Amino acid sequence: MPIALITGITGQDGSYLAEFLLDRGYTVHGLVRRTSTLERSRLQHLYSNPAIYGKTLHLHYGDLEQPINFMRILQRVNPSEIYHLAGQSHVGLSFEMAETTTDSVAMGTLRLLEIIREHPSPVRFFHATSSEIFGRPTLSPQDENTPLSPVNPYGAAKGFATQMVRIYREKFGLYLANGILYNHESPRRGENFVTRKICRTAAAIKLGQASELRLGDTSAQRDWGDARDYVRGMWMILQQPVADDFVLATGILHSVQDILELAFQEVGLDWRAHVRKDDRLMRGPESTTLVGNPEKARRMGWVPSTQFPELIRWMVKAELDSLSRAPRTEDPA
Ligand code: GDD
Repeated sequence: MPIALITGITGQDGSYLAEFLLDRGYTVHGLVRRTSTLERSRLQHLYSNPAIYGKTLHLHYGDLEQPINFMRILQRVNPSEIYHLAGQSHVGLSFEMAETTTDSVAMGTLRLLEIIREHPSPVRFFHATSSEIFGRPTLSPQDENTPLSPVNPYGAAKGFATQMVRIYREKFGLYLANGILYNHESPRRGENFVTRKICRTAAAIKLGQASELRLGDTSAQRDWGDARDYVRGMWMILQQPVADDFVLATGILHSVQDILELAFQEVGLDWRAHVRKDDRLMRGPESTTLVGNPEKARRMGWVPSTQFPELIRWMVKAELDSLSRAPRTEDPA
């Protein structure tokens, strides 16, 4: 039975990836940070299943600031595949928390690479990097050869980590792969990312639990896909005979405004009556025309399955359902 170790297993991608691998007969080990609150809601259905938790799914306390702790887990688990998804992932927040972001994203990855370099058994390593490494690219769409030009601390930290994966792969001949991931969404997305924020607030307004939605730049454009497709892509990347980098993207740009219109249409309301511009949510240097060319991933058989309108409708429906059961208490910034 193959064994996988996932950093960031409690996040959107980690939880979908855990399900995907368990379905394929993997034993899955996940690294969870020790915090005062138990943030495991996305894994709850697996965690509370006695046929899974403690049998094919195991969670270990650890974080990437303590390499010895990770080394011990790695030795004990001895996985055939590592999926590195952990790290501060909010671009806007990375301006406020530049050091924490750099430490978790850049140094956290480097520490793992150093440990893998010394690990006695062969292991395949997937690094979840980001389209934010391209920042303001001179070419669109971007592919695996597009030069890095990040415009925020998060993108710069991801750029460093991406390049170190390439350098260690070449220098030490290790199986290390970068997945250059464009935005990917689902009802499990964190509430302060724009798709989830819009879908959740539109649903809350419909249900009388909120009255307005405050947003930054609604003309901003991104390449948005379905998170479930992206975790399938991560696994496919590690099944390639030779370690390589792959862009995972839909290749199609949409704007924040498009999300707004679709989400409010889904709940039968006029967005104009509820949306307010909030200058505090404007990002400053904004990444532009981040749209990926997924041609290389297509050649390995990866095709995104969900269209953008379907994705937004799915997210709104999920919010209507969950807010009907448990009303919203917080306002996502
Ligand atoms: N979060 C947020 N909140 N974004 C807003 C808002 C708002 O109120 N109003 C407008 N936006 C715009 C942002 O300025 C950005 O242009 C776009 O909506 C998307 O923002 P996010 O959903 O926060 O995602 P992101 O593109 O910055 O980053 C995500 O995708 C990257 C891959 O391209 C994150 O998941 C990153 O971790 C990931 O690497």
